[in-house]
Amino acid sequence: MRDLFDDICPPDVITAPERLRDLDPGYCDASRNAGLLLRPRDTATVAAICERANRTGTPIVMQGGLTGLTDATATTGDQLALSLERMNRILRIDPLQRIIVAEAGATIADLDRAAAEHGLTTGIDIPSRDSATLGGAIGTNAGGVRVIRYGMTRDNVLGLTAVLADGRIIEDMNTLPKDNTGYDLKQMFIGAEGTLGVVTAAVLRLYPRPGASASALLACRDIAAAQAVLAKAQVIAAGHLLSFEAMWPDFYRLTTSHLCAGREPLPPGSGMHLIVEVTGPTPEAAEALLLSIFEAAAEDDLVQDGVIAKSEAERAAIWAIREDTDLIARPLGAMLSFDVSIEASLIDDFLRRWDDARAAQMPDIHSYVFGHLGDCNLHVCVGLTPEAKRDRGPIDDLFYATLAATPGASFSAEHGIGLQKRARLVAAKSPEVLSLMWQVKQMLDPNGIMNPGKVLQART
Ligand code: LAC
Ligand code: ZN
Repeated sequence: MRDLFDDICPPDVITAPERLRDLDPGYCDASRNAGLLLRPRDTATVAAICERANRTGTPIVMQGGLTGLTDATATTGDQLALSLERMNRILRIDPLQRIIVAEAGATIADLDRAAAEHGLTTGIDIPSRDSATLGGAIGTNAGGVRVIRYGMTRDNVLGLTAVLADGRIIEDMNTLPKDNTGYDLKQMFIGAEGTLGVVTAAVLRLYPRPGASASALLACRDIAAAQAVLAKAQVIAAGHLLSFEAMWPDFYRLTTSHLCAGREPLPPGSGMHLIVEVTGPTPEAAEALLLSIFEAAAEDDLVQDGVIAKSEAERAAIWAIREDTDLIARPLGAMLSFDVSIEASLIDDFLRRWDDARAAQMPDIHSYVFGHLGDCNLHVCVGLTPEAKRDRGPIDDLFYATLAATPGASFSAEHGIGLQKRARLVAAKSPEVLSLMWQVKQMLDPNGIMNPGKVLQART
């Protein structure tokens, strides 16, 4: 495969398969199985690569930080892996316009650090911020822990540049908050998981960087109380509520037992633990806001206990309990991670049915639930052995059958489709929607070289 790209890529852009196998595959076991990895330095080379791949029928698999959870970066030996990790330049920051323009290989953490130098912040923040890239966040329309305040990635992208399969460069680097000029084509590439084109650069909104933030861990009796706290926090903190995360008892017990057994910030055993983070102009103001939420909630008997982080170390310790989700895989060696959206009033019912179904049909599997309660987004994780993971079908079937009985639920809130959820997409969408998706794919990628087999499963 190498000779197909020799004349358009300098040698240092090309990684041969033997060396590729030694690289960290991230969260997708098959991400290093490609026949070649190319790491170009500019959009023109990306365009030349796509054009060549299109003419020679060589499939391209886009890869960012490899922290995706649905195998969208999986490769086979006949495929070309394309990483923009060397295209990581910040091209422009305009504090007056409140935008950052960057190449797609910049990490989420890099972007926020650059914004911070101007007293600004990005709206995208995910636990894998140090490795996840802008291109990956756009490809998956990443969510994360601040969606309640700043929206999903889609809400933060003002413009982008995408390369189509045939090498055409679609430059739509809008920098304005308002731009109603015809079809908003950039939206097609956001959340498309590299199946419609390669995003090489983007313009993101920036926001005033809050002077300070404060985090609290709260204990509630149940989800109804937690949702009542949320409603109060949204009024009391108004535009200052940054995160509202929930941890169900088994999850809290598991992560604290690994991270801080015997010195948990709050004891396990409550019906629900919440992490609430608010911002303010000063640490005192942010903390006062948290206290008002806590007091209002306590007055109505909605919280049983709470601690406010008094230092950055305490804040990090509280957040680690929520973000260190790899711990679920530790006891048995692997885990499944479900990612669902459920209307607020139906979450409890869904979890009860899932518990009942498991107890009846798979009493040996354990499920750990946490999530972005402020966005109605739950992660239901199952710890299991690597062998059991390979044979995950029955667990998937039980989980999604339980979900199917929940009106209006989404089977993928923020992790996308990749390889893992293609059958669910077919089951969940109408024939008209699916056929329009195929028409879009056909229009932009007629030869089917862009991350083929991901999102849409080839029809037989
Ligand atoms: C999280 C990832 C799994 O919220 O979405 O930790
Ligand atoms: Zn999440």
